[in-house]
Amino acid sequence: MKTIGVIGGGIMGSGIAQVMAQADYNVILIEATASLCRKAEQRVSKSIDRSIEKKSLKKTDKAKLLKRIVCSTDIHDLKHSFLVIEAIPEKIKLKKQLFKKLDQALPSNVILASNTSSISISEIATSTKRPTKVIGMHFMNPVPAMPLVEIIVGKNTSRATLSTIKQLSKQCKKTSVVAKDAPGFISNRILVPMINEAIFCLQEKIGTKEDIDTTMKLGMHHPMGPLELADFIGLDTLLEIQEILYKGFKNAKYRPAPLLKKMVKAGKYGKKSGQGFYRYNKSRKK
Ligand SMILES: NC(=O)c1ccc[n+]([C@@H]2O[C@H](COP(=O)([O-])OP(=O)(O)OC[C@H]3O[C@@H](n4cnc5c(N)ncnc54)[C@H](O)[C@@H]3O)[C@@H](O)[C@H]2O)c1
Repeated sequence: MKTIGVIGGGIMGSGIAQVMAQADYNVILIEATASLCRKAEQRVSKSIDRSIEKKSLKKTDKAKLLKRIVCSTDIHDLKHSFLVIEAIPEKIKLKKQLFKKLDQALPSNVILASNTSSISISEIATSTKRPTKVIGMHFMNPVPAMPLVEIIVGKNTSRATLSTIKQLSKQCKKTSVVAKDAPGFISNRILVPMINEAIFCLQEKIGTKEDIDTTMKLGMHHPMGPLELADFIGLDTLLEIQEILYKGFKNAKYRPAPLLKKMVKAGKYGKKSGQGFYRYNKSRKK
């Protein structure tokens, strides 16, 4: 069995690890500390349970999948992987530092993919000596349930790298689309400004949070309201994406809603911190 590395076992990394194990890969999941490793393992376990509840996995699959996923804090453990998928926070500085370390630590044939929502793949690739092997592999949340992977091709990404990632997406039973390396790519260029606008509506008291969400659910047939979805994605992640769109396009229409900034400053990150636009049973603090 081949091995895939996943870095960051948060909302996205835990789901990516599960999906890769389901596609018959061994997974090495890297977290920053041993205690975060344990949390990441619990997250994977809960995510598998949700898939069992939804009947997309059998109860008997769980032990086999968990056995395929090993958590570590040492990136050198990734040296036998043919691919590493990074899913750490949406901060360009952090991602560039990590890609530099990965480039130095891993054999030159290893493909380095980022699950970034909006950051330039070409820019991330500049921190490595293997820009042909750097690519965006943007999964949607929750990864096991969402059928799309948005593949982002950087300025120097090779056709061979693209072809491997397309094939892998198919193997994971996902449909892939290919996007150019522009801020927000396709998905978040469209989605995040809509959510940002919903936050402006709330800030300007155009409607209550419930009315805003109900409008989009019943009026536009969206499965979740934009404020509910914001809590689910993580307000910190959304703010980072909106800032990248604003800086990238230098256009005032992308300015982040002040209410979004205020909530992030106050530690209200949404579901993952226990409070966002709505309150949740706290599952994990940042
Ligand atoms: N949340 C979403 O809905 C969503 C959807 C698509 C893409 N993304 C993207 O996925 C990435 C991760 O987002 P998330 O929502 O999973 O964030 P998250 O905060 O839930 O998880 C990030 C994880 O990375 C870990 N981490 C940080 N630095 C690390 C390091 N140097 N080495 C190892 N682990 C490290 C943290 O401990 C944390 O567990 C971001 O780039 C985000 O934009 C998020």
